[in-house]
Amino acid sequence: MTEQLKGKVNYSTQGNIAILEVDNPPVNPLSSGVRAGLSEYILKANSDDSIEGIILTGAGRSFIAGADISEFGQKPDGPDLHTALREIEFSKKPVVAAINGTALGGGLETALVCNYRIGTNKAIVGLPEVNLGLLPGAGGTQRLPRLIGPSQALKMMLAGTPMSAKKALDQGVIDAISENSLIEDAILFLQDKIGLDEHPKVRDKNDKVIEARGDNNILAEARALAAKTRRGQFAPGQIIACVEAAINEDNFDDGMKKEADYFLECLVNPQREAMIHIFFGERAASKIADIPKETPLHPINKAGVVGSGTMGGGIAMLFANAGIPVLVLDQDEDNLKRGMGVIEKNYKMMVDRGRMLEEQKDAVMQLITPTLTYEDLSEVDIVVEAVYENLDLKQEIFQKLDTHTNANAILASNTSGLDIDAIASSTSRPGKVVGTHFFSPANIMRLLEVVRGEESSDETMATVMALGKKMNKASVVSLNAPGFIGNRMLSGYTYQANMLLLEGALPNQVDNALESFGMSMGPFRMMDLVGLDLGWRARKLAGIESPLVNKISDELCEQDRFGQKNARGFYNYSEGSRAPNPAPENEDIYKSISEKHNFVRREISDQEIIDRCILALVNEGAQILSEGVAQRSGDMDIVYINGYGFPIWRGGPMCYANMLGLDEVTKRMEEFAKSDEKFWKISPLLTKLATEGSRFGEAPSKEEREAKLSFKDSKNMGGV
Ligand SMILES: NC(=O)c1ccc[n+]([C@@H]2O[C@H](COP(=O)([O-])OP(=O)(O)OC[C@H]3O[C@@H](n4cnc5c(N)ncnc54)[C@H](O)[C@@H]3O)[C@@H](O)[C@H]2O)c1
Repeated sequence: MTEQLKGKVNYSTQGNIAILEVDNPPVNPLSSGVRAGLSEYILKANSDDSIEGIILTGAGRSFIAGADISEFGQKPDGPDLHTALREIEFSKKPVVAAINGTALGGGLETALVCNYRIGTNKAIVGLPEVNLGLLPGAGGTQRLPRLIGPSQALKMMLAGTPMSAKKALDQGVIDAISENSLIEDAILFLQDKIGLDEHPKVRDKNDKVIEARGDNNILAEARALAAKTRRGQFAPGQIIACVEAAINEDNFDDGMKKEADYFLECLVNPQREAMIHIFFGERAASKIADIPKETPLHPINKAGVVGSGTMGGGIAMLFANAGIPVLVLDQDEDNLKRGMGVIEKNYKMMVDRGRMLEEQKDAVMQLITPTLTYEDLSEVDIVVEAVYENLDLKQEIFQKLDTHTNANAILASNTSGLDIDAIASSTSRPGKVVGTHFFSPANIMRLLEVVRGEESSDETMATVMALGKKMNKASVVSLNAPGFIGNRMLSGYTYQANMLLLEGALPNQVDNALESFGMSMGPFRMMDLVGLDLGWRARKLAGIESPLVNKISDELCEQDRFGQKNARGFYNYSEGSRAPNPAPENEDIYKSISEKHNFVRREISDQEIIDRCILALVNEGAQILSEGVAQRSGDMDIVYINGYGFPIWRGGPMCYANMLGLDEVTKRMEEFAKSDEKFWKISPLLTKLATEGSRFGEAPSKEEREAKLSFKDSKNMGGV
């Protein structure tokens, strides 16, 4: 019998077992009704003499996906989570968590107050709070180290990634895996335990934490891991401090008190707001405002990639990783062989690093088929073109694809900046043409800019966004406008870096300032990585004189300094190393070019460096937003965090500007405009929001948007 009572937990019984089923679709978060239901039904089961054991499980595909994020910052209704968890932990009758699906965050913490845990082979457990700038604040930092040892617990909490049922069993997070009916197995499991005098409580398992006392390595290793993988983040240090308390406090409840204090500190830290903004921002970015949710998707069962170079190879891996068979076409047999070799090598590296099993590698490799002929693409549902960046060549290839592929196939280009409409015009199906701008290395970088051409159909856009999700990309839509979103913003940022060099800063000062701000790589190290010669060669070829901003980098190229590729650029590199060493021999070049162009070199503060580079991003972002090239300001934050190494804990450039206050942002820009009026034209949208005391965050109103941009009427961004 199933009794539907108030709240969001269902209560039923099977013989001497009570079953509490969390029912809060779609993912069973711990909302107020769930907390109330858990408390109430644990008491009910305990006061029913016919009940001897309790199963706690979830309805649908989730066990409990975690806290209800929508309740953050509000006064919670009903009992708090700690109260509900205490009822479970001190239940007189044994409780087994029957983990039917995802048990994340508060979900796993709920399972940890149960006496036993059993999961299906599809169960997934994890404590992802660190990704939101938080720590597991419902006892997770105190119970997990007791269950699996502090070292493993720290790894799990600092990574914040979910763990499969098998791994959870190996590590001791769960006690058993059910291969058949979970509830039946949980009942059998419980019947076995019912006669015992005592049932284990995780809070009482002190062996592993006591063993860790005095072992400084555990915390030192965790600190090193956090410094490497979560540079600049606040929450990891708090998590480590909590585990330190779990190790050293004699009394479990004293550790819990510390956890509560450290949790509160995370909650009020601005990083938490920034990271939650990114969590929601990524979900928002995947939606296209004017495309109905029910738009049918074109099924993608087979794919093609044209060009087996740097990008084509990575994109082929993405299809294969998503389980989609992919043909890789190149015109050049040697390049094709080399491209397939690189793919194989990349997978082998994953196997060597323990990120993939040999069998998995064989399975994905089997999905990737090289070819030299377009006829082989006749049955694909999508092709991504990744040949050299040349419009004539791309148009020629799209014509061939139009002829040889099924009329319904989507044709996508990985162009970094060519006009998608011009590419589409070479086909008879412009509605099926779209830009898919992956970032290098495509199999690793999470950003995907989906470029919407004038005629890209709703179905094409929706299908490519869904494909991005399947490939685990952070997908963002950009209108077809020069530089799309990311590179257009980047141009102002690198412009400022180059101007700072002319005005008196040195590359390592600029890089260090921006890296201490949190950027993963400063602009000069980045330019060295990309190659200084690309722009220089292009300008030479076109017979264009170096613009002021490129005078220094072009002079470096004249002196045979191209960047990492020939071990010298803004920095020097030792053989086989990517570590930049200062290049004092360049300083005379900087000085003489500055003088030649009438700059009086001066001391420049780190703050000025940060402000000029980062606010350049913000101003261009505001302009992009007002033109409607991006749908929302959060989209630009997603682009910068996933494609350009912007620190996630600052929430992206637009979120950073919000936190600084748009009034302050415009004030600083006005100050810079005094010496460079031409560059610092403050976006009218930014001025408007600042004057209103408002923030970025809402889609601009229709009046704020200019007409949809096209290449013809857009300003020439140059240099992107
Ligand atoms: N490399 C990057 O960092 C990066 C990042 C984002 C986007 N992109 C864009 O991706 C595209 C590919 O760049 P890449 O760096 O992978 O280039 P690449 O030079 O590494 O590879 C290009 C491949 O295309 C093949 N090719 C050339 N003409 C062809 C034809 N007619 N038919 C079939 N194959 C042909 C070549 O043989 C070569 O294997 C460009 O549009 C580039 O702008 C590159």
